[in-house]
Amino acid sequence: MDKRSCKLILAATGSVAALKIPLLVKTLLELPEDEMTYVFEIHLVVTEHAKHFFKMSELPGSVKVYDDTLEWKAWKSRGDPVLHIELGKMADLMLIAPLDANTLAKMAHGISDNLLTCTTRAWDMSKPLVFCPAMNTRMWEHPVTAEQIGLLKTWGHVEIPPISKKLMCGDTGIGAMAEVDTIVATIRSVADKKFNIHVIVTQHSKHFIKKSDLPSGVAVYDDKMGWSAWKARGDPVMHIDLSKLGDIMLLAPLTANTLAKIALGFSNNLLTCTTRAWDPAKPLVFCPSMNTKMWEHPITTQHINTLKDWGYIEIPPANKKQMCGTVGDGAMAEVKTIIDTLQCYTSQFKARPRANDS
Ligand SMILES: Cc1cc2nc3c(=O)[nH]c(=O)nc-3n(C[C@H](O)[C@H](O)[C@H](O)COP(=O)(O)O)c2cc1C
Repeated sequence: MDKRSCKLILAATGSVAALKIPLLVKTLLELPEDEMTYVFEIHLVVTEHAKHFFKMSELPGSVKVYDDTLEWKAWKSRGDPVLHIELGKMADLMLIAPLDANTLAKMAHGISDNLLTCTTRAWDMSKPLVFCPAMNTRMWEHPVTAEQIGLLKTWGHVEIPPISKKLMCGDTGIGAMAEVDTIVATIRSVADKKFNIHVIVTQHSKHFIKKSDLPSGVAVYDDKMGWSAWKARGDPVMHIDLSKLGDIMLLAPLTANTLAKIALGFSNNLLTCTTRAWDPAKPLVFCPSMNTKMWEHPITTQHINTLKDWGYIEIPPANKKQMCGTVGDGAMAEVKTIIDTLQCYTSQFKARPRANDS
């Protein structure tokens, strides 16, 4: 199966740290394949001053580069695409590295006079935006810097703070852009949240699943973790965070017990709390799996119909020899059937078809 692309806008401004753009791009594109469940697709947005610090010929051909000229080339008359809007719609996340003092100030004040600042000004705040300040120590220490960085952080943007080292001008002090490895590690952890598989296990499912059987990159959550993450007001509430970060939820296998709990609105563990908080606009796919006798009980149909009425998608069980020896309906659908169904919903995160759509 082809890996999904994480569409990353990498934006560079006129800081000397833009010298590192070719290395940053190379590192992002050459991450070890066996550790990745997705690949980065890089869209590089440059300010006019950023262009002084590297040559486009230093970048791999797969990187698409956008500048202010292109924004106006793409638009000639009404109906033509507006590049900064299209970029924002297309992207999964944005990384501004380096972010110089000038563009930081522009962002903080809502100024949008080039492709980069128009893209940030029109940014969908539900998508991550990570920024790496880079400036001379004297600029860094000016009180306006902390004020503007603080403001960007209140909007939910994530700062990768600068480091202290000998700057190009000869001064030593804070202001140098974070190391490429630090930036890449942060971007990976932000992208992992969106692109990796997050497995929620109930207490009883643990009898059948070993964490060591799962590939690396798969995060596993259980009831204990939900409570250890929360200690006091303001701490993360795991089932809410999981319900926000998931683009699609798959319940496989779904036991008779959890099916009943979901249908009746019970929420007494991490899994049922997450389904209870699930945004109905996002797909939820479920694969019932139970003994034939349980499957044939009339309450099963009642519960399944409740879930289907809410727009949840059933992958019906298969008829086969079950573990207890009985042959009949109730076994979880084949993995291939489940994957094929999921692919209909995940390839482009298509909107879920509504019950009355043809
Ligand atoms: C050689 C050189 C290096 C510079 N490095 C930085 C820097 O690291 N950080 C910074 O904030 N400004 C730096 N500047 C100043 C910016 O390039 C300048 O403020 C410019 O207007 C930024 O435009 P932009 O934000 O549209 O890219 C540097 C200027 C020069 C000439």
